[in-house]
Amino acid sequence: MQPMNEVPKTVWWDDVPCLIDQLRLPATLDIVRCEDLNSVIEAIRSMQVRGAPAIGITAAYGMALAAKRSTAQTSSKLIEKLAKAKSLLDAARPTAINLAWATKRMLDLAEANAQLEPDQLRQRLLAEAETIRDQDEAMCRAIGQHGKTLLAQTRNVLTHCNAGGLATAAYGTALAPIRAVHEDGQPIHVWVDETRPFLQGARLTAWELQQAGIDLTLITDNMAAYFMQQGHVDCIIVGSDRIAANGDVANKIGTYGLAVLAKAHNIPLYVAAPTSTIDLQTANGAAIPIEQRSTQEVTHIGQQAIAAEGIKVAHPAFDVTPAHLVTAIITEQGIAYPPFAEQLQTMVETANAANARQ
Ligand code: MRU
Repeated sequence: MQPMNEVPKTVWWDDVPCLIDQLRLPATLDIVRCEDLNSVIEAIRSMQVRGAPAIGITAAYGMALAAKRSTAQTSSKLIEKLAKAKSLLDAARPTAINLAWATKRMLDLAEANAQLEPDQLRQRLLAEAETIRDQDEAMCRAIGQHGKTLLAQTRNVLTHCNAGGLATAAYGTALAPIRAVHEDGQPIHVWVDETRPFLQGARLTAWELQQAGIDLTLITDNMAAYFMQQGHVDCIIVGSDRIAANGDVANKIGTYGLAVLAKAHNIPLYVAAPTSTIDLQTANGAAIPIEQRSTQEVTHIGQQAIAAEGIKVAHPAFDVTPAHLVTAIITEQGIAYPPFAEQLQTMVETANAANARQ
């Protein structure tokens, strides 16, 4: 595969939702066309598309597709179909709030436009899904501009999982400040955690940074402490699947361990996420549902078994980092510092007000 200056779009609409098959990267850049609602749900569940903002955008397109495929003759029947589609989509993955945030935005829009003819409503829904995609990319670029101010003295940054362009519409959240300083010509090097068990760091982040020409070193997760102890990590930047109202952060399993290590080594831990990841309805991290994924993802790498058959295996896919271990939260609205609650609320309200004006 040839290096590309820009990672291609992660998710887009071409008659139906289309996406890069992230299960096939980095070996092959394959495109999946989702012809019906079930294939959208399956793409999210199987993680052909993954990353909180990207699954939100995919679900929004899934709602537009459900409307397109529905034979409903009245808008009220169409809205009933959409409500069902929303609950099916939301159940595909429970931790990332962006999914339910996007399907709610689509359903709210349909309900607010119930007076339209069904075909007009179908068009409005598709336009809204496109807006959600475009706004996500704009939010990521704004995160990059805010976040790069924190990296002025940084040469070595560590990241976990993939919170890059592949996890969003484009450009990424955790990778956005890194991309922004790189674009400014500042030397920057990224330690990429491989991120067991699903290997999003090794398969996706390392590929994405390589495509962008950003210096990286891939490490296994258990090497992070060593490099921190050696003084080779200036800061950690991760994304998030859901930020509770008090600033507790759910992210890929292993993030909490990194946060504890960061504290022990006096290294800042930054969380980069759009306001669509902030869930003011969830008071704190204890209330965030943690997805339990297949044990096969732990016992196998690809199709290759790496553990004895019949053993007990656990696979929580996310963990929660308490707010007191987070140095700052970077959103498209700016940078929040502890205590987070009031600033997060203001950021969400400002973003909602801007959306309502559009
Ligand atoms: O299970 P995944 O790959 O969907 O988990 C993704 C993450 O944990 C990301 O860090 C998070 O969604 C933020 S993506 C901008």
